[in-house]
Amino acid sequence: MKNKFSISILLAIFILNYSCAQDLKTLDEENKNSIITTEENYEMELVFEDENIIWGIEFLNDNSILASVKSGSIYHYKNGVKTEIKDLPEIYFRGQGGLLDIALHPEFKENKWLYLSYASEDIKGKGGNTTIARAKLIDNSLVDLEVLYKGSPNSKKGQHFGSRMEFDNENYLYFSIGDRGNRNVNPQDITIDGGKIYRIKDDGTIPLDNPFYKEENAKKAIYSYGHRNPQGMFKHPETGEIWTNEHGPRGGDEINIIKKGKNYGWPKITYGINYSGTTITKDKSLPNMEQPLYYWLPSIAPSSFEYISSEIYPGWKGSLLAGALVFKYIERVGIKDNKVISRSKIAEGLGRPRDVKQGPDGYIYVSIENKGVYKIVPSKKKNNLKISEINNYPIGKELYEDFCMRCHMSDGKGVEGAYPPLANADYLLNKRIESIKAIKYGLSGPIVVNGINYNLNMEKMGLDNQEIAEIMNYILNSWGNKTEKLVTEKEVDEV
Ligand code: HEC
Repeated sequence: MKNKFSISILLAIFILNYSCAQDLKTLDEENKNSIITTEENYEMELVFEDENIIWGIEFLNDNSILASVKSGSIYHYKNGVKTEIKDLPEIYFRGQGGLLDIALHPEFKENKWLYLSYASEDIKGKGGNTTIARAKLIDNSLVDLEVLYKGSPNSKKGQHFGSRMEFDNENYLYFSIGDRGNRNVNPQDITIDGGKIYRIKDDGTIPLDNPFYKEENAKKAIYSYGHRNPQGMFKHPETGEIWTNEHGPRGGDEINIIKKGKNYGWPKITYGINYSGTTITKDKSLPNMEQPLYYWLPSIAPSSFEYISSEIYPGWKGSLLAGALVFKYIERVGIKDNKVISRSKIAEGLGRPRDVKQGPDGYIYVSIENKGVYKIVPSKKKNNLKISEINNYPIGKELYEDFCMRCHMSDGKGVEGAYPPLANADYLLNKRIESIKAIKYGLSGPIVVNGINYNLNMEKMGLDNQEIAEIMNYILNSWGNKTEKLVTEKEVDEV
């Protein structure tokens, strides 16, 4: 048992340290591809209860919430009052299809355009497919409704409608349509819809520089293809790029940055297998097909995707959030230089998270199926503690958050059996020189901390002596540690 544990941890470390997609290829078996920890310094505050499946949320200027309900309604929630929006289009309900996402035009305040994605029948042929429409939201009604895009052909299959929408910095609208359960036909064929990310102008016309605009018979709205079922999408606030996550098969959920005209490979390449356990393809990479930025093993079933730009949550800025439908938690994915460096769980056990969004007030809101909408609030007690620490060793604290926290954790408790603790740790507190050495030169081989064995590798991090002194003073005086004799740059220099 112990051995098994340390092997999977070893694999996990391997992935943590080398988490670019290229290196992930070596991992074939169903095995956790990184350690996932649990966030503690927050509370879930109920904003409003709702027994429906709220598929999409948006914020109006007054921080009130507009919510699309999968069974076919839109509600406006303000100060505890729920108002139904009238005059919705006709919607096709089947399996995963229904009323799905909503998005506000970036200039909604002036033009009132609300965008909807939903399954509809509309055209000839049995069944339905994903439809994108816009309408003006005036006095709680949709007026001037226009269908901007209708996926074809219709299908009676209940799977993979995609349907997330997002505007970029030029007011182009991106949206997804999943492979509609027809993976061998749709995703790799640019003359049919499904398995694609699309880009259209806000009025539904197609930008002339779309990658397949000049290609005969192609669906000209396609921006990238070879996708399975992307249900999470955000615009990166710094680069303006569109990032998506998608439901893969078993073990093949992906994070991708969407690039013009690229083929993301489904189902020719994938890290996943069929739910039944049989193989889809042996290929994990092929020429001219994009590798994911990251893939989840096991699958989390990502329902939504958001970037945290808010400063409200200590240590969370710049990381990503994805709703994990299978495990019923929200996953925070730490990112550095476009590589996944950490994973942690929020709101485990509350229910299936459908949409997650940062509001204009900087708080993160989550819709949980059949429960309602919650706001994530940093817990006050632990924050106050942090503030006193900030005053003591601000530089060391910041360096710790950048370089050490992902393994030794924000509370210094580490991960038992993998990353040793620093809080109340006999190694750190009694072996001052060895600890400085470990940070300066790296550490490997078996060690014992507070009676527990550790035997992994901590790499050299390239910090200078001044920085190491700052970090040492921070960790020697945090989480209950108290060391009077401060570490100086000179002391580190001599080690
Ligand atoms: C990739 C994960 C990782 C990162 C990042 C990391 N460490 Fe470690 N650290 C370890 C591991 C693993 C060990 C134990 C190595 C062994 O088993 O020989 C360790 C051991 C230590 C020890 C000695 C044991 C103890 O608990 O007192 C100290 C001190 C330490 N780390 C401090 C730091 C500091 C400070 C940083 C940031 C500058 C840092 N570590 C970054 C993984 C990490």
